[in-house]
Amino acid sequence: MNKETSIMDRIADANKSVITGIDAKDIENWVMIHIMGKAYEVPSELTILQAMEYSGYRFIRSCGCRAGFCGACATVYRKEGEYKLHGVLACQTKVEDGMFLVQIPFAPAEKSCYDITVERYDPAVLLKYYPEITRCVSCNTCTKACPQELQIMDYIQSALKGDFEGLADASFDCIQCGLCAIRCPAEIVHYHMAQLGRRMFGKYGIPEELNLKKRVEEIENRVYDEEFQKIMKMAPEDFKTLYVEKQKEREVY
Ligand code: FES
Repeated sequence: MNKETSIMDRIADANKSVITGIDAKDIENWVMIHIMGKAYEVPSELTILQAMEYSGYRFIRSCGCRAGFCGACATVYRKEGEYKLHGVLACQTKVEDGMFLVQIPFAPAEKSCYDITVERYDPAVLLKYYPEITRCVSCNTCTKACPQELQIMDYIQSALKGDFEGLADASFDCIQCGLCAIRCPAEIVHYHMAQLGRRMFGKYGIPEELNLKKRVEEIENRVYDEEFQKIMKMAPEDFKTLYVEKQKEREVY
């Protein structure tokens, strides 16, 4: 394969091979992986998600956006002869020879119920709903477990110091996969706690976004109903064209 080929081209190419069928003689490199304990030989260019589909698995759980945003494809693996357990997103990680893979479609962590409109903008709210953060022993296991490489231990410290902004900033890219909580020896549910922190900061810590308020009012007053109806009736090809045009407009601005 041409070394100049971009990653996106290679992924698109790999996707195509999964969808259209693949001719073994066209594949230069194969790797051996184990899925739920069963061995499969798969093309080395595939992501874990694609390799599982190539091996015959059909996803009902453990797959969503396929682009690293939804957190549904959390996967753990270990390689033969290694002690370390790796946590990754299956849609973002290429297969490697000797991977033993297990999907984690859902982290069974406790999620508190609250109403941010009745809570006070006070760091105590974090301890009220997630008191276990005081048990943090700064082992950094959470940070090491994060497939997004977020500084999770640091944002737990921000939460303990009552720094909503630091917490919101450091956890902004969290996709709620739950791998941090699964590995934490202090049984902290980092990602749910951080979500509460971001919600509080968004509601009380930054000035109200007036353009957003105006747009929500317009939607409530049904200003865009006609346009929505038009879009809903569009043929898929026309819809794709419109989407590309809008993307281009955004690039111009
Ligand atoms: S499928 Fe959404 S993050 Fe992987």
